[in-house]
Amino acid sequence: MSTPRGQFSSKTGFIMAAAGSAVGLGNIWGFPTQTASNGGAAFVLVYLILAFALAYPALMAELTLGRHSRANTIDSLAAVAHRASTKFFGRAVGWYGLIVASLILSFYTVVAGWMLAYLFAPICQMLGMAELQQWLTSQSLARDLIFGGLFAGLTMAIIAGGVEAGIERWSSRLMPALIILLMLLIIYVLMQEGANEGLKLYLLPDLSQVTNPQLIVNAMGQAFFSLSLGVGTMMIYGSYLSKDDSLPRLGAIVTTVDVGIAFTAGLLIIPAMFVAQHHGATIYAEGGSLLAGPDLIFQVLPVLFDSMGAAGPFVALAFFGLMTIASLTSSISMLEVPVARAVERSELPRPTLTFIIGGIIFAISAVIIANFGQLFGLVVDFTTKYSQPILGIMLCIFAGWVMHRDRLLRELKEGHEDIEQTLFWKIWPIYVRFFCPALILLSFWQSL
Ligand code: PHE
Repeated sequence: MSTPRGQFSSKTGFIMAAAGSAVGLGNIWGFPTQTASNGGAAFVLVYLILAFALAYPALMAELTLGRHSRANTIDSLAAVAHRASTKFFGRAVGWYGLIVASLILSFYTVVAGWMLAYLFAPICQMLGMAELQQWLTSQSLARDLIFGGLFAGLTMAIIAGGVEAGIERWSSRLMPALIILLMLLIIYVLMQEGANEGLKLYLLPDLSQVTNPQLIVNAMGQAFFSLSLGVGTMMIYGSYLSKDDSLPRLGAIVTTVDVGIAFTAGLLIIPAMFVAQHHGATIYAEGGSLLAGPDLIFQVLPVLFDSMGAAGPFVALAFFGLMTIASLTSSISMLEVPVARAVERSELPRPTLTFIIGGIIFAISAVIIANFGQLFGLVVDFTTKYSQPILGIMLCIFAGWVMHRDRLLRELKEGHEDIEQTLFWKIWPIYVRFFCPALILLSFWQSL
C-alpha cells in the first residue's frame, strides 16, 4: 500500500457520503416516473417493502464485507475467501463490479452533462443571452461533449481530494443543499393549479397492481440501483468506516434517507407534470402512459418553468441545481471504486490516478455520446438490468456462505456490542444466505 488508507472522520460524514451515493437521478427522476407508470401508490408500497426486506440486507452484506477487509473491492472479496478457487471467484466478482461501476459512471456522466447544460440555460436567460440559451437546451454533439466533460471534471476534482477532504467534505456540503432545494421546489409546485391531480395519482394505490410480476421486478431493480448496490460502491464506503460505529444502524439510516428522498421527490415531479399539463404541456405518451424519459425532464418541465413568468428561471435553476447535486454525490462514489483499487496498488499519487481513470471513463462516455442511439440503452440495460442483480446475488453469497459466521459476528460486534441479542443477528445471517439470493434470482428470472 503506497499511502495510508482514508477514513470517514465521523458517523455523519459517512451517512452524508453513503446517502449521497444512494440519492441520485435514480431517486429524483427514476423513482417518481416508475411510480407513475406502475400503478401509482401500489408501486410505492411494493418498493418500500423490497427496499427494507431485500435491498437493506444486501446493503448490510456490502458494508460488512467492506469494513471487514478494509481494502478495495477486488482484494476485499479475495481476502474473505479461504480456498484458491473461491479467492479466484472473489477477484472475478470484484473486477466485474469495478467494470460495471465504471460503465454506470460513463452513461451517468452523459445524463448529468445534460442537467449541467440546463442549469446554465436559465442563467443565460436572466442575462438576456437568448442564443446561448437556445444552444444549451438543444441537443448537439458539442454540447454533450463539453458538459459531459465538465461534469466528469467535477467528479474527478472531488475524488482527487481523497476520502475526507474530497468525498466526505463535498457530500456534507451538497446533501443539505439538495434537501433544501427539494423542499423549496415542493412547496412552490404544490401551490400551483393542477398539482392535486398529480398528488392523487401518486398517493392513491391501484391495489390490483400489487401482485403484477413486472411491477415487482421493476421495484426490485429500482431499489438496487437506488441503493447503489452490487458494484462495490457501498463496500468501498464501508471500508472507510470506523470500527466504533454500528453497521446495522448506519445501514438502516442510509436506507431510510434514500427511500425518504425518493418518496419526497415524487411529491415534486408528479404534481409538477400535472401543473405543466395545466399550462398546455402533453404529459401522456401515445400509448396512454405518463411520459417518463428525457421528454419529461427536458420538455414537460420547461413548459412549467416558462409559465411561471419572472420566477421561471429561478425555479429552473433550483431544479437543475438539484439534479446536478444529486448526480455528483453519486458519480463520485462510482469513480471511487476503480480509483481505490489503483491507489492501493500503485505508487502514483491519488490525483494522477484519478485523472487517468476518470479520463478513460470519460472517453467511454464520449463514445456513447457519439453513438447514442446504438449504445446508450445497451449500456444501461447491461449494467442496471442484468449486472447489478447478478452481482447482488454474488455479494450476498460472499457474506452468507464464504465469510464464516464467527467472522461475520466479530465484525458486526464492532461498534454494536450486544448485536447477538438483536433481532438483526437472529434473522440477517440466514436471510442473506438463502432468502436474498433466491429472491433476487426469482425476480431476475421474471424479468427475462
Ligand atoms: N444510486 C444512484 C442513483 O440513485 C446510482 C448509483 C448506482 C450510484 C450504482 C452508485 C452505484 O442515482
